[in-house]
Amino acid sequence: MKILALLPLAALLAAPLAAEDKGSDTKGKYYFKKNCKVCHVAGGSAAALTPLSRTQAQWKKFFDAGVHGKGGEKLTPKTCTPAQALDIKTFLMNHASDSPQPETCGG
Ligand code: HEC
Repeated sequence: MKILALLPLAALLAAPLAAEDKGSDTKGKYYFKKNCKVCHVAGGSAAALTPLSRTQAQWKKFFDAGVHGKGGEKLTPKTCTPAQALDIKTFLMNHASDSPQPETCGG
């Protein structure tokens, strides 16, 4: 009985933790095209990138480090806002090469 009474409390505590790392997949796709693909396309100024270019662990590592490109520059706010970075991270991880729904994002 005591344990049952604690369950709703546990759910309340767990919810914000689970939500913390979740951006929007749909917005992330849009921002990835808008903020990243300007450079990261075939014939662009940086190597072509799609979600498939990395595994989920590799994308996570890249965004957690927050360092981008050669000079050790910050990913945000240089290329996108922190909120956009979270959405882009969500999109890329959801469709990474080892994800359940790999996606090329139109090449
Ligand atoms: C102004 C151009 C430009 C924009 C915009 C840009 N990048 Fe880059 N990016 C580069 C350059 C230049 C490099 C280093 C050379 C290379 O890897 O092609 C790089 C490297 C990378 C790398 C590989 C290096 C590493 O540390 O693993 C990843 C991954 C990456 N960028 C992701 C992104 C993401 C995600 C975005 C959008 C939030 C983005 N880039 C926006 C120019 C850009």
